Amino acid sequence: METAARTAPAAVIVAIDGPAGTGKSSTSKAVAAKLGLGYLDTGAQYRALTWWMVTNGIDVNDAVAVADAAAKPTIVSGTDPAAPTITVDGTDVSGPIRSQEVTSQVSAVSAVPEVRAVITELQRTIAAEAPRGIVVEGRDIGTTVLPDADLKVFLTASPEVRAARRSGELKGKEATDLAATQAALAKRDALDSGRKTSPLAKADDAVEVDTSDLTLDQVIECVVTLVEEKRTAA
Ligand code: DC
Repeated sequence: METAARTAPAAVIVAIDGPAGTGKSSTSKAVAAKLGLGYLDTGAQYRALTWWMVTNGIDVNDAVAVADAAAKPTIVSGTDPAAPTITVDGTDVSGPIRSQEVTSQVSAVSAVPEVRAVITELQRTIAAEAPRGIVVEGRDIGTTVLPDADLKVFLTASPEVRAARRSGELKGKEATDLAATQAALAKRDALDSGRKTSPLAKADDAVEVDTSDLTLDQVIECVVTLVEEKRTAA
C-alpha cells in the first residue's frame, strides 16, 4: 500500500526575481495559490525593517547605525498566498511599508550587508519550513538566498510598461505621473543592481520571461507550466 508520504509531491522551491513593476508579486501569489505552495514577499521584509528604522529615528544613510540595529526588530511573515501578512514586533505593518517614505529609503537599508545577513537567514528558515514548498519573490533569491531552488525565474519588462503598471498600483494621494514613476523606478533599479552585496541579478540557470507583452494570466500560466515540467522531470 502506498503511503501519503510517497504519493504527495515533493516540496518545491520556486525563486522569482526581477525589478519592480514586472508583475513579480501578482505572479508569485497566483502561482503559489494554484500549486498549493507558500508565498514569501522578501521585498516586504526589507520594507518592514526600513519602516522600523524610520519609526525609530535611525538615519538610513548611516550604514553603521543601520547595521547595529539590523537584528533588533522581530519580523514575522505569514506565507498564505491568499492573505500574506507582515508584522514587526507584533505590529501589522502591511499598510505603512507601502508608503512613499519607506519606498524611497528601502534601497539604502537593503544595501547594508548586516541587514542582508539577518533577512537572508530569516528567508532560508521560512523556505526550509514550508511543508509543501514555497514561491519566494525578490531580487537575489536565485543567486544568493536559495541557490538550490528547483526553479528560478527572472521577470523583466520594458521601463515604460513597468512605470505604467506601478502608476496603476499607486492609487489616490500618492499617485504620480508616469514620467516621475519611471524615473523613481530607474533610480531604485540602479541602487538595487549596483550595490556590492547580492545585487539584483539574474542567476545563470534562471529562465528569463519578458512580461512586457503578456497578460498576468499568461505569465502565471507560463510559470505554472515551468514548475510542472520541473516536477515531472524530477
Ligand atoms: O519588491 P519591492 O519593491 O517591495 O522591494 C523593495 C526593496 O527591497 C527593493 O527596492 C530592494 C529590496 N529588496 C532586496 O534588496 N532584496 C530582495 N530579495 C527583495 C527586495
